[in-house]
Order: sequence, then C-alpha cells, then structure tokens
Amino acid sequence: MSVIKKIPVILSGISAGLLGSLFIVNSAFANTKANDSSQADGSIHHVSATVCKTCHKETYKQWKGSMHANSTAFNDPIHGTFYRKVVGDPGKEGVTMKNGKYPVCLQCHAPNAAKDKVTKLDSKPAYAEGVNCIACHTLKKYNGIDGKNGKLNLGIKAYEYTDKIQGTGRNSNHLLNALTAMGDEFGFTDGDDDKKPNPHLGKPVTVDGKDIPALPMESNPKQLRTSDACMGCHDKRNNAHGVPLCATGDEYIESQAKADCLSCHMPTTGSKSDHSMGGGHSLPMLQRSVVFSMESKKDGNTIKSVITIQNKQPHTMPTGAPFRNLHMKVMAYDKTGNVVWENAKGHPGKTDKQAYMHMVLVDDKGKPTAPPTAKGQGADNRLKAFETRELFYDIPAKDIVLVRAELYYNLLWPGLVKKFGDKIPADVTAPKLISTSENAL
Ligand code: HEC
Ligand code: HEC
Ligand code: HEC
Ligand code: HEC
Ligand code: HEC
Repeated sequence: MSVIKKIPVILSGISAGLLGSLFIVNSAFANTKANDSSQADGSIHHVSATVCKTCHKETYKQWKGSMHANSTAFNDPIHGTFYRKVVGDPGKEGVTMKNGKYPVCLQCHAPNAAKDKVTKLDSKPAYAEGVNCIACHTLKKYNGIDGKNGKLNLGIKAYEYTDKIQGTGRNSNHLLNALTAMGDEFGFTDGDDDKKPNPHLGKPVTVDGKDIPALPMESNPKQLRTSDACMGCHDKRNNAHGVPLCATGDEYIESQAKADCLSCHMPTTGSKSDHSMGGGHSLPMLQRSVVFSMESKKDGNTIKSVITIQNKQPHTMPTGAPFRNLHMKVMAYDKTGNVVWENAKGHPGKTDKQAYMHMVLVDDKGKPTAPPTAKGQGADNRLKAFETRELFYDIPAKDIVLVRAELYYNLLWPGLVKKFGDKIPADVTAPKLISTSENAL
C-alpha cells in the first residue's frame, strides 16, 4: 500500500498514461480502505467536502466561508437560535416539529441528513456540513416546489437526486475520452499546478496519500447552469400557517429578469465559478446591491434633499428571511462637524417610517409577531425588484455646511436583536453600513 501512496511525490517526469493506470486501484480495495469518517461509506451523500478539497482547493475555500457551509444550527447562530426554539437540539436523534413531523428545515439547511431522515447532525461530517458539494452536485432535476393538495415540496424534495456528480458540461463530458483513452485521464484542478488523477471517470484513485472513492460524473448543464440549481431551496417557504416567510424565487419570476441567479451569485474568474455565494452576510455583496445617491439644494431657509435608492436586483432588497431590513440615517452638520439636524434620534423605525424598509409579519389581531407564529403578512416597504425610490427631506438651512446620508443593512429586526442578543454574537447583529452619500452646501 505504501508504494501506491508514495507515487504522487514522483509524479513529474513520468508519462501521465503510465501513472494513470497506477493510480486507479482496485475499486473494492478503495471502498473498504475508506475508513476515515470523512470518506465515503458507499453512499455518495455521506462523502464529505474534505474529500473534494483534496483537488478542488480554491472552490473548497470559497464554499467553506459561505453560508452554505454554515447553514446548520451548529454553525449559524441565527438559524441555530430559531431551530432550537421551534425544533430542538441539533445534536439529538428523533427531534420533531411541534406537529410530530421530521423537521422541514433540514430539507434545505442539512440536506444530506434529510435524505437519511436523521436529526443528530454531528453524527456524520456530511450532515454537519450543511449544503455541501454533494448536496448541490447530485441534484439531477428540478421539479418545482408545488406538490399535491397545495403542499410545498421544499429543498431536496423539489429535486430528483442521483449518486453521480452532476457537472456543468465544461469538464464533465468524458464519454469520448473514456472510449479512446480508457480512463487514463488527468485534469488540472484549482489551487494546484500539478495534474491530478480524475476520480470522476468512475474508478477510485489515490492522491497525496489519500484514497478517494470513485466519484462518477455526468454532464448536466440544464440543472447546473440555470436557476434550477437554486430554486428548490430559494423559491419560497411558508410557515406552519401558510404565511410566506421568504419568496426570493417568486420575486425573481415576477421581475421577469432574464439573467439567472448564477450570473450574479457565481461570477467566474478563469474557468472557475465563485462558490462564495454571498448575500446578507457578505458586505461586498451588500455594497453592490443598491445605487444610493443624494442631491441637496438650498432654497431660502430650507435645504431640499432628495435621496435616490435604486435596487439593482431581480429580487426584493432585502430579500430572503423575513427579518432582513434596511434603515437610513440622514444628518446635517455645521462647520465644526457637529450634528445640527437628523432624520431621527437613533433608529428611525418610529419617527421616520420611510427610512426603515422592512416587512411586518402579524398575528390574528394584526399585531407584529415572529415568523413561526405569524398568521399573515402586514406592511411591506422593502424595495421591489429593480425599483427606484426617491425619499425627500426638508432641512432647516441655518449653520449647515454638509448633509450626509447613510444606508444600513440588518440581518434581524431590532426587536429580535433585543430578544436574542445574548445568544447571537454582536458582530452578526450589528448594523452594516453599506452606502453613504454626502453633499457640501
Ligand atoms: C482526486 C482529485 C479529485 C477529487 C478528490 C475530486 N475531483 Fe472533481 N475534478 C477532478 C478533475 C481532475 C476534474 C477535471 C478538471 C479538468 O479537467 O480541468 C474535476 C472536475 C470536477 C467538476 C467539473 C465538471 C464540469 O462540469 O466542469 C465538478 C463539478 C467536480 N469535479 C466536483 C467534485 C466534487 C463534488 C468532489 C467531491 C465529492 C470532487 N469533484 C472531488 C479531480 C477531483
Ligand atoms: C439544498 C438547498 C440549497 C440549494 C440547492 C442552494 N442553496 Fe443557497 N442557501 C441554502 C440555505 C439553507 C442557506 C441559508 C444558510 C443560513 O444562513 O443558515 C442559503 C444561503 C444562500 C445565500 C445567502 C448568503 C448570505 O450571505 O446570507 C445565497 C446568496 C445563496 N444561498 C445563493 C444560492 C444560489 C445562487 C444557489 C444556486 C446556485 C443556491 N443558493 C442553492 C440552501 C440552498
Ligand atoms: C449551492 C450549490 C453548490 C454547492 C454547495 C457547490 N457547488 Fe459547485 N457548482 C454549483 C453550480 C451551480 C455550478 C455551475 C456554475 C456555472 O457554470 O455557472 C458549480 C460548478 C462547479 C465546478 C465546475 C467548475 C467551476 O468552477 O465552474 C466544480 C469543479 C465545482 N462546482 C466543485 C464544487 C465543490 C468541490 C464544492 C464543495 C467544496 C461545490 N462545488 C459546492 C453549485 C454548487
Ligand atoms: C443582478 C444580480 C443578482 C441576481 C440576478 C440575483 N441576485 Fe440574489 N442578491 C444580489 C445581491 C447584490 C444581494 C445582496 C443584497 C440582498 O440581500 O438583497 C443578493 C442577495 C441574495 C440572497 C440573500 C438573502 C439573505 O437573506 O441573506 C439570496 C438568498 C439570493 N440573493 C438569492 C438569489 C436567487 C435564488 C436568485 C435567482 C433566482 C438571485 N439571487 C438572483 C444580486 C443578485
Ligand atoms: C425551502 C428551504 C428552507 C426551509 C424548509 C427552511 N429554510 Fe431557513 N433558510 C433557507 C434559506 C435559503 C435561507 C437563507 C437565505 C434567506 O434569507 O432566504 C434561510 C435562512 C434562515 C434563517 C436566517 C439565518 C441567518 O443566518 O440569518 C433562519 C433563522 C432560518 N432560515 C430558520 C429556519 C427554520 C427554523 C426552519 C424550519 C422550521 C427553516 N429555516 C426552514 C431555506 C430554508
């Protein structure tokens, strides 16, 4: 065995054809040898992302920093807080929703565990990894989320899935190669200048001393190169009372946009697509989300300021979870830099309603409530897809030399920050400044 493991060290200088046949070890051996818990035990959905990391280093790094890799109750403090409240302990087997059913959350937040109907998410790395490589790359066909009798088929239930890695068509059309070269194919993977043996041709391989199970692949650009890759988990979700909690996909369809999710969320560099997939947790993504500008003119004793916010996205801003929100501060300064006027003291939610852009969920009596208990949707003044909105301010001109507007994004409503502040780290709940605009007078 040790002979096989040393081979990669002497890779350079030997013909790829010869090495190809050396790398491809007997399939039975490789499968029984795979005793590392991060490796396959025969089921593709138990294959950990660390297996893919061996060759796809850059992609792994991007994914690891994404919310997909942090989507379970163990890694995401916001999801974790809600999950523990409405479901229970993510480290326990057999927890259920209040209605006694398997937790619907896991169909999107821990899809590999949902395939096995397991709720103890630390019992396998592939469960605890949440939306990992395999979770997306084994989705074969999107069937839509509308099930029978008005029920929603959410997350993995919206898909047919398979035990073969689904590829984009760029490097996944191997049938001719297999016919002519009988599997001695190597390929370049990211973060590496050395050619690697390709486990996607259907045989296990050994690389850098690590046994890699066979990871057969087929080309499926219809699934991988369109919004179908995302919609099962991102179209919409209702709470137990049928109230929509998020509807990114519906918003997108209504916008009639032609560019799919991937064009913004998976930009390419070289021949690789970025797997960071930023959203509300990503400051650079948030900074690109809107065009924010102010124009101010002195008119007698008044400064007339017009603030324009243009939503560049084919979905609501903010989109996603119902508690995402924006708030805006407008301040006027004298020549020593003191604030002489502002649109609101502190948060504008009560005194300058147009400057607090959010959706309200309400109970039976129309009172604001949390997502699990909502019976209906209340006011919603978030920016619609592609909307351009103007906000007007009249500011007393005396002593004022500068007007400044600041736009903030918040993952949670202020009320939830207060309620869960002790459970969620302050840097997660802190308002994020995403845009500013200044006018000198
Ligand atoms: C032993 C190295 C190795 C491992 C481990 C590995 N791959 Fe690959 N992968 C390759 C090579 C080589 C290619 C072909 C790249 C080329 O030729 O440029 C490739 C290509 C791909 C492609 C691209 C297909 C396309 O359409 O362009 C996908 C998707 C992929 N791998 C997914 C995975 C996933 C998911 C895992 C983990 C379950 C994984 N790979 C593990 C070596 C590896
Ligand atoms: C198997 C389900 C699933 C699929 C498929 C999926 N996602 Fe996600 N995605 C999630 C979950 C769950 C989260 C939330 C993680 C959290 O915040 O706990 C998420 C979060 C996100 C976020 C928010 C990141 C942030 O900063 O808050 C973006 C953006 C995103 N996904 C884009 C995509 C795109 C684009 C696709 C298609 C290529 C896709 N997703 C496919 C389940 C999925
Ligand atoms: C949220 C779903 C999702 C997750 C998670 C995911 N991928 Fe992908 N991946 C895609 C989609 C969609 C594409 C196709 C993008 C395109 O071509 O527009 C893709 C493309 C690829 C490719 C083709 C080359 C490229 O960069 O375009 C490789 C290789 C790959 N993924 C490997 C991985 C590995 C390794 C992981 C885990 C570390 C992973 N993917 C996790 C959805 C995902
Ligand atoms: C024109 C570029 C663009 C397109 C196309 C696009 N998005 Fe976004 N998306 C963004 C930007 C910018 C953000 C960050 C601001 C925000 O949260 O709205 C974002 C945020 C998100 C979030 C984060 C929500 C959260 O709660 O953190 C999700 C989820 C998402 N998009 C999913 C999708 C899906 C699914 C599609 C396709 C149906 C899509 N996006 C199409 C630009 C785009
Ligand atoms: C249809 C798939 C789906 C289901 C089912 C689902 N979620 Fe999510 N959830 C997502 C996606 C996608 C995101 C991230 C993007 C967004 O904000 O829409 C998310 C985000 C969240 C967030 C915000 C996380 C953060 O980091 O801010 C919480 C909290 C949450 N979900 C809780 C739950 C709970 C609890 C359940 C089960 C009762 C559940 N979700 C069921 C797809 C789903």
